[in-house]
Amino acid sequence: MSWTVVILIVIAVVDFRNGRRWTRYRGSQTIVRSPRRCNGGPKKAGDIILGNSGGAEITKHKANSRDLLTLIDPLCEKTIRTTVLDRFPDHDFLGEEDVPPGKEASAAAIEEKLNKNGSASNKNGSDWLWIVDPIDGTTNFVHGMPLNMPSIAAAYKGRVVVGVIYDPHRDELFTATKGGGSFLNGNPIRVGEQSKLGDAVVAMGSPPGEQSMKMSLIGVQALMPKVRTIRMIGSAAIMLAWIANGRLTAYWEYDLSSWDIAAGALIIQEAGGDFTDLAGDPFTLRTRKIVASNGRIHDDLLAVLNDAGIV
Ligand code: IPD
Ligand code: CA
Repeated sequence: MSWTVVILIVIAVVDFRNGRRWTRYRGSQTIVRSPRRCNGGPKKAGDIILGNSGGAEITKHKANSRDLLTLIDPLCEKTIRTTVLDRFPDHDFLGEEDVPPGKEASAAAIEEKLNKNGSASNKNGSDWLWIVDPIDGTTNFVHGMPLNMPSIAAAYKGRVVVGVIYDPHRDELFTATKGGGSFLNGNPIRVGEQSKLGDAVVAMGSPPGEQSMKMSLIGVQALMPKVRTIRMIGSAAIMLAWIANGRLTAYWEYDLSSWDIAAGALIIQEAGGDFTDLAGDPFTLRTRKIVASNGRIHDDLLAVLNDAGIV
């Protein structure tokens, strides 16, 4: 399935929420049901990422030597942006590649969008904001590991109402709409059943930032003896998607940006899981210190992290 198809799905869902009729998108629904039929379309971002899945060249280091950028990231973002804004010219758009590196800039970027969102000063007065990470897992992408993907969310008046994570390597499309449940390739998904921390498979970040790295090291020491195992997969999007369908039990990371987590937060919540910050407060688009889980082990996980001084 190509990224164009993914975007068509998101557009169809957004239109649905806007009160328009699904039938208007009968064409895109047909494509969704038979994704391989759309091979002959315009050049697609999905083709680009898969075409480079053997590894991509680093074009720039962003915040530090561990924060990478390839030529492909902005190319994919442009493809997504063009597709979205062609259809919804009055919607607002926030993509990772528009924002200067570093946590301050990314926090400021979402703050600015949220302050404008729904107000008269917003772009054409739109209540809609798209939040996009064109390739989450850029380091995996650079090294040819098939663990990278786009993460696309649409927020209405500051609340995420549509989330899509598409894994082109496994052709797995995770979707959620607010109040409408979560799906993998159209089939409903639920979080895992584990109710004890000792049975939990907990994912973590190996983040580029100094402070988050320090917290990760403290966290790994505190958690490893208490959980079944720990995984560091290198893409927030995939770790969140995999909680939603029960492959992972939980994931926490000390500092992430809105584009890393917006889609995944909704997909987990709609699959029956919990998504909070390290204080246990519910997810908002401003949340950066994240704890996501199947819900059943959430409090125990928070307690271990907080007791270790991770707050
Ligand atoms: C990164 C990934 C990684 C996480 C980092 C993120 P990027 O996003 O999600 O898993 O640990 O904190 O920055 O840079 O690959 O889009
Ligand atoms: Ca990311």
